[in-house]
Amino acid sequence: MIASDKGFAGEREDKSGEAIDKIVKAKGYIVEKKVIIPDEEDSIMKEMIHMVDDLKVDLILTTGGTGFSPRDVTPEATIKVCDRMANGISEAIRSYSLSITPRAMLSRAVSGIRKETLIINLPGSPKAVNESLDYIMDSVTHGLEILTGKTHDCAR
Ligand code: MTE
Repeated sequence: MIASDKGFAGEREDKSGEAIDKIVKAKGYIVEKKVIIPDEEDSIMKEMIHMVDDLKVDLILTTGGTGFSPRDVTPEATIKVCDRMANGISEAIRSYSLSITPRAMLSRAVSGIRKETLIINLPGSPKAVNESLDYIMDSVTHGLEILTGKTHDCAR
């Protein structure tokens, strides 16, 4: 899910969505839906609820809207739809990203769980997506196996 006013208006190419696509497909995931949403809390929440409650996807990855601009509301929408937060994932992203750029501290991204779906915010630039996603994906896959009841074993 790409949160971007410019992307929604067709004024910006969807490079971050493409970066997500490439990384998750390489890990064996199937991309069920890709959508560009304007930076509006209600629209983001509505789409997340649809993906979880109707489509029942395992994982929602958002990109964009995590910074300090007044239009950056992806974390607020995510918190509102989640039953439980999964702070460790966003802490891991920021911790690893800080070794690359101090600007990583400016992302307010969160992660959480609604029903049996994991929702993870990523920053908006393709560079940030590439730096963040590869690092977390193996642990995310393991977390999803536990969340969906495919394993109870927390082996490393
Ligand atoms: N994280 C990584 N790994 N690499 C980056 O280049 N950019 C930062 C930060 N996180 C960055 C990053 C910057 S400059 C901003 S403003 C925030 O993410 C928020 O980005 P967003 O508003 O596009 O979500």
